[in-house]
Amino acid sequence: MRITVTVDGVDYSDEVEPRTLLVHHLRERLGKTGTVVGCDTSNCGACTVHLDGHSVKSCAVLAVQADGREVTTIEGLAREGKLHPVQQAFHQNHALQCGFCTPGMIMQAIDLLADNPDPDEDEVRHGLEGNLCRCTGYQNIVRAVRDAAQQMRPGAGPEAERVDETKLVGRTPTHAGGGGE
Ligand code: FES
Ligand code: FES
Repeated sequence: MRITVTVDGVDYSDEVEPRTLLVHHLRERLGKTGTVVGCDTSNCGACTVHLDGHSVKSCAVLAVQADGREVTTIEGLAREGKLHPVQQAFHQNHALQCGFCTPGMIMQAIDLLADNPDPDEDEVRHGLEGNLCRCTGYQNIVRAVRDAAQQMRPGAGPEAERVDETKLVGRTPTHAGGGGE
C-alpha cells in the first residue's frame, strides 16, 4: 500500500508491504541509516526515533502505522551545521564508545527531557532503561543527559533550543520514493 511519511522534514511517498517495519523502511527505502538495528526484538532501543514527537522503537512499529505522520531520526536533529544540545553533550561528556547505541540513546534522551527538563540521576536511568549500551557503563551517558538539561534550560540561549519539529515540515520538496516491494 502507498504511505506518505514526513521524515526529518521531508515528505516521502512510497509503496510498502503491510509487514514492513518502520526501521527497515527508514533504512532500506529512505536511506536513513543513522537509525540502526541492534536486536529486532524491541529490546535494545538502538532503533529509537520520534513519531509525532514521541520516542518509539522503530522495529516495533509498522511502516504503515507511520502513514500521514511525522518521524524524526537522529539525522534530523542538527540545525545549520550545529549539533542538537543533546548530541553536543554526548560528545563533550564522552558518552559513547562504539556509538552503536547512541542514535537511539539520544532520541530517547530528548523525549525524556521534553517530559522532565531537569531529571536527577535516577530519573535519567529510569528514562533510558529501554536503551541498552554494551560499552560505556552508562555513567557518562547519564552525565551527558543531565548536562544537556542544563544547556537546554530556559534562558540557556538560542543554541540550547529544543528541536522544534513543527519548523521542519515543508523544509524541502516532496520526494517520491521508489516502486513497490
Ligand atoms: S532494534 Fe529495535 S529495539 Fe533493538
Ligand atoms: S557505545 Fe557501544 S553500545 Fe553504547
